[in-house]
Amino acid sequence: MKKIVILISGAGSNMAAIVQAAHQQRWDQRLGVQVAAVISNKPGAAGLDWLRSQSAYSAIQTDVLEHAQFESREAFDQALMKRIDVHAPDLVVLAGFMRILTPGFVAHYAGRLINIHPSLLPAFTGLNTHQRAIDAGCQFAGATVHQVTAELDHGQILAQAVVPVLPGDTADKLAARVLTQEHLIYPAAVAAFFKP
Ligand code: GRF
Repeated sequence: MKKIVILISGAGSNMAAIVQAAHQQRWDQRLGVQVAAVISNKPGAAGLDWLRSQSAYSAIQTDVLEHAQFESREAFDQALMKRIDVHAPDLVVLAGFMRILTPGFVAHYAGRLINIHPSLLPAFTGLNTHQRAIDAGCQFAGATVHQVTAELDHGQILAQAVVPVLPGDTADKLAARVLTQEHLIYPAAVAAFFKP
């Protein structure tokens, strides 16, 4: 059985969408893959609470590694790699994991590390994507699933979803509209990664 490890920092709604899709679509039987673990760098991440409350997903291990307890980014990433590699993952999925990763980490998972970013890349890398799209007068916004490379929010595009920017949009309203699409394209992109 192939393994997926998901990294989160907060709400974990994309993680939940992937876990639910894996269950409902029987990825174990159809694709020979299962979500083995969800790891957070924040102990209070709501996504962890949600996952632990779902008896249907009790086989998925949860783990916390607090970045604040490490002296350097390198030390944290080395420790995180150890925690991840316990599961020997075929794919590591960043789902709202709010850490910039070191080149060593990215190189270690080359070709098996993906992220979702809430913009139509290559536009609006980095933070505050929704406000920046509104401020720029964009008529469309969206989200991108991409391979992770050493350069932030670059790497091969695997999937995109487009939503309209509507009159009177706030960053929050636009973010919510984009997020509903993230929950569709991210599970689909993960499944596509394992399709023969
Ligand atoms: C999403 O908008 C994702 O694109 C971005 O961070 C947010 C995470 O949301 N990278 P959630 O934790 O999956 O609910």
